[in-house]
Amino acid sequence: MRWLLLYYAVFFSMLKASAHTVELNDMFGHIQSPGFPDSYPSDSEVTWNVTVPEGFRIKLYFMHFDLESSYLCEYDYVKVETEDQVLATFCGRETTDTEQTPGQEAVLSPGPFMSITFRSDFSNEERFTGFDAHYMAVDVDECTDQEDEELTCDHYCHNYIGGYYCSCRFGYLLHTDNRTCRVECSDNLFTQRTGVITSPDFPSPYPKSSECFYMISLEEGFMISLQFEDIFDIEDHPEVSCPYDYIKIKAGPKVLGPFCGEKAPEPIDTKSHRVHILFHSDNSGENRGWRLSYKATGNECPELQPPVHGKIEPLQAKYSFKDQVLISCDTGYKVIKDNVEMETFQIECLKDGSWSNQVPICKVADCRAPAELEHGLVTFSTKNNLTTYKSEVRYSCQQPYYKMLQNITGIYTCSAQGIWMNKILGRELPTCLPVCGHPKFSRKLISRIFNGRPAQKGTTPWIAMLAHPQGQPFCGGSLIGMNWVVTAAHCLHQSLDPDDPLLKDSDLIRPSDFKIILGKHWRMRSDENEQHLMVKRTILHPQYNPITFENDVGLVELLQSPILNDYVMPICLPEELPEKGAMVIVSGWGKQFLQRFPETLMEIEIPIVDHLICQEAYGQLKKKVTVDMICAGEKEGGKDACSGDSGGPMVTLDRERGQWYLVGTVSWGEDCGKKDRYGVYSYISHNKNWIQSVTGVRN
Ligand code: ARG
Repeated sequence: MRWLLLYYAVFFSMLKASAHTVELNDMFGHIQSPGFPDSYPSDSEVTWNVTVPEGFRIKLYFMHFDLESSYLCEYDYVKVETEDQVLATFCGRETTDTEQTPGQEAVLSPGPFMSITFRSDFSNEERFTGFDAHYMAVDVDECTDQEDEELTCDHYCHNYIGGYYCSCRFGYLLHTDNRTCRVECSDNLFTQRTGVITSPDFPSPYPKSSECFYMISLEEGFMISLQFEDIFDIEDHPEVSCPYDYIKIKAGPKVLGPFCGEKAPEPIDTKSHRVHILFHSDNSGENRGWRLSYKATGNECPELQPPVHGKIEPLQAKYSFKDQVLISCDTGYKVIKDNVEMETFQIECLKDGSWSNQVPICKVADCRAPAELEHGLVTFSTKNNLTTYKSEVRYSCQQPYYKMLQNITGIYTCSAQGIWMNKILGRELPTCLPVCGHPKFSRKLISRIFNGRPAQKGTTPWIAMLAHPQGQPFCGGSLIGMNWVVTAAHCLHQSLDPDDPLLKDSDLIRPSDFKIILGKHWRMRSDENEQHLMVKRTILHPQYNPITFENDVGLVELLQSPILNDYVMPICLPEELPEKGAMVIVSGWGKQFLQRFPETLMEIEIPIVDHLICQEAYGQLKKKVTVDMICAGEKEGGKDACSGDSGGPMVTLDRERGQWYLVGTVSWGEDCGKKDRYGVYSYISHNKNWIQSVTGVRN
């Protein structure tokens, strides 16, 4: 019977005249069963199609619900559905195990469309008042409600009423699908010989919708090999080869890959110096990506043997293209390449696997023959006269005429740099200075001669004779250093015109007008040991006064140096002032009593006279004895220099140093050897600084 009734119901419902559809497009509305609040009629069917804009869903809720109850809501019901899905079917007055009433629950459509159908069958055993319901459009929060994985935002989702949009984390760009976040990774250039390349964000999942290009580019001659690491995770497919994400490698004409999946490719030896890597990702998937390290190797060069007495750095078992080694030698040895000495030499492994150069040899440093020393000699301390590293030589000065200026042993050692080196002077040579004031011959005690005595040969080896070219002597002088003669300034210019006392250039005696003779003993006869020397220039003391004879000192520079020997030796310059009343020796070829010239060099020994006494003695004559002058002689007279002695030496013995030094040069006097008159001498100590500054001479 029930089955029959069902057939009827179906049959009648098809015929139902009251079935109709209502289209609703508002954002909210109100629907009721027919006849509400009275009981609804039998055999009626009404459908409300509610449509709201895209991005909204529809919420339906019932304020009143009273329908006939039937098993599974067979007879009367309210059905809520979308195009393809029944959302709810309600009937009855209260919810049972098999039937549902809406109660307080609202029905929510998943999309912007909802269809509500009310139906009543042909008979009602009771009176039912139907339903009263409201609907409204509600916003879909796509950001939280999204069920479709394909539509969710990759990084950030922003909901607004009626829609939503996506954005990306810093460093990412929104793909044109407006949903996935891609990265810009198209130009990655690697030029180092080793390196590591990873997918973006590795080991976090790589970005979607991205095309990454990597290029390893090295100089020709290198070959790149690639090695993937354990973590390798690229989206794959069980049947199709890498349809979604993949990595492809291009090396020269070869293309490798696509690679994907979870198993890393085996190490790849590309044999190429340039490799392109392409990594593609599609718009979905969460895979960790990949990491590879690359290494470039070049052709190997043959093994290297360090040179004897040398080394190679860095020392390796193998060298390949671009490797460089530095060859250097042990201390005392030098690298020799193409006959050139150098400290180090570099060679490089070339792309064809050969070395750019041969390993050079190491040669022991050679200082070669030591330089000659003026007035000195050099002797070898090491046997066989070796001049190589660590050999020794010794410099000394020609004794007894020269001594070393520096207080050193004179030993020079051949350094690792191939230079003769002294501990104190370094590479500088010592200086040999002439020994001064130390004659070989000393005076034999002979009875004092009242008015002087002939000098003994060689006891005054510094005496210089100023002579005219024909040999006529006119003044004396003293050798200082190697090239200079100290004399009186008045010896170096022609006798004055008494009416024109000013010193004029034309009055000066020219260098070619005279010569210096050293080693002289006899006045006119020639000596075995004499040396004639030409004059380079003459220098008068700048404060020399030809009227008063103040600063009567002049210097003669020799064109050549004399040969020092037992008869030619310089006098020392004073180190300190002479003692009061000290005895001095004055020598010269000047006139003797009776206006006669002596045959040989003469000398007198006289005391230095107190300056005041001397000044007083000359005061009566209105002649000034100034501070640059020094007097010597005896009160009773007799022993004195005289005409022709000018410029000649007045010396004294420095007992402490055991050497003679120059106290003065013969300058002037009132007559010769007169009582209460003294010889006046230009005082060397007073002008020592000037002499040294002009000549550079030192003791
Ligand atoms: N002026 C003299 C000369 O030209 C030297 C004078 C020395 N006289 C003396 N009495 N100390 O030679």
